[in-house]
Amino acid sequence: MTTIEKDSQYVLQTYGRFPLALAKGQGTRVWDEEGREYLDFCAGIATCALGHCHPALTSAITEQANQLIHCSNLYFTKQQSDLAELIVEKVVQQPGKIFFSNSGAEANDGLIKLARRHGIESARHEIITFNQSFHGRTIGAMSATAQGKIHDGFGPLFPGFVYSLLNDLEAVEAAITEKTTAFLIEPIQGEGGVKVATKEFLEGLAALAKKHDILLLLDEVQCGMGRTGMFNGWETIAPGLKPDGISWAKGMGGGFPIGSFWVAEKHAPLLGPGSHGSTYGGNALASAVSAAVIKTIIEDDLISNVNAREAQIRETISEWDHPAITEIRGAGLILGIGIDTSQLSIPDGAVPSIHLCKELIKLGLLVPPAGPDTLRLLPPLNVTADEVSQALALFKQVLDAHQA
Ligand SMILES: Cc1ncc(COP(=O)(O)O)c(C=O)c1O
Repeated sequence: MTTIEKDSQYVLQTYGRFPLALAKGQGTRVWDEEGREYLDFCAGIATCALGHCHPALTSAITEQANQLIHCSNLYFTKQQSDLAELIVEKVVQQPGKIFFSNSGAEANDGLIKLARRHGIESARHEIITFNQSFHGRTIGAMSATAQGKIHDGFGPLFPGFVYSLLNDLEAVEAAITEKTTAFLIEPIQGEGGVKVATKEFLEGLAALAKKHDILLLLDEVQCGMGRTGMFNGWETIAPGLKPDGISWAKGMGGGFPIGSFWVAEKHAPLLGPGSHGSTYGGNALASAVSAAVIKTIIEDDLISNVNAREAQIRETISEWDHPAITEIRGAGLILGIGIDTSQLSIPDGAVPSIHLCKELIKLGLLVPPAGPDTLRLLPPLNVTADEVSQALALFKQVLDAHQA
């Protein structure tokens, strides 16, 4: 039985996977089971921040695995408190405290619990989230996600979410009620098509939050940890923002499962002893690995590379002046290439973005879609100029081959 056949027999078929079984990775490259090489501009969906098998990551894993992997949160570990310090002092640079989870959805569930605690004394529990957002697949995070297709067949949802319109402050103001306790927003929507919240919108939300004693919670799971060309996605858009809570996962582990959320110091007492927990959350191994990833981003100045590669991508694509490309959305190395599908010949019944992704796989480039007419570029933060040139050449080759 092949890997794909075995998957279809034994693995719950929840994923729409591409027909590709990967066996090995190094830097920005991965190899399939037949030894075919691919440029990986998916990077585990914005997760493998340092690329594959980076020595800082693999040595952190092996060294920590030989010391202490896990001891539960009944005890302290230096690895966990060091990582919390690193995130507070170097990433957020605003006083606060960290809780560690294992994934982005769990981190957002923690923010949802924070919002509930914030509203408890004034009988408020509603959280406003935004159309086309994606916050994860647990019941809480799924209910926060304002996309009907994610909810389909799982109702009734966890109560208390109100969906409003991204970049429409009037709509948000109209959605605020005496029950509103928080806003939860991705500064750059990833799964929703790489849609960027505007500066006016984020600052407007912050002003409304202050006026109505509402928490401003940012989901940085996909856009955070250096991917936008700043450490924080919101900083790229509205640098002075003072959020009340922030969630991360993906890039903070470089491919190793870990998530977290930060709570501004003044709200930290809301989640006191006994209020929240996770057996694995922030275990010694995951914490050591995440610290190695974040330190490498800082020490190797990968953020400068992100900005240089973004400029290279934008410049190259604008030189093509390709009729099938409508726009480039996003920032840094979370970029969505909008496709004008009317300019392309796509087989009947195929979803354009997925069809193009499959064609790119045939040429040796992995990119994820983001909705039917957007392809995402999410390479590792240390991708080289040469790798970007090669990937873009393949991208153009596929668009040219499909020109209507
Ligand atoms: C913005 C955002 N939030 C939350 C999640 C959920 O993260 P996880 O899959 O680690 O639970 C994702 C995953 O794609 C995401 O993009």
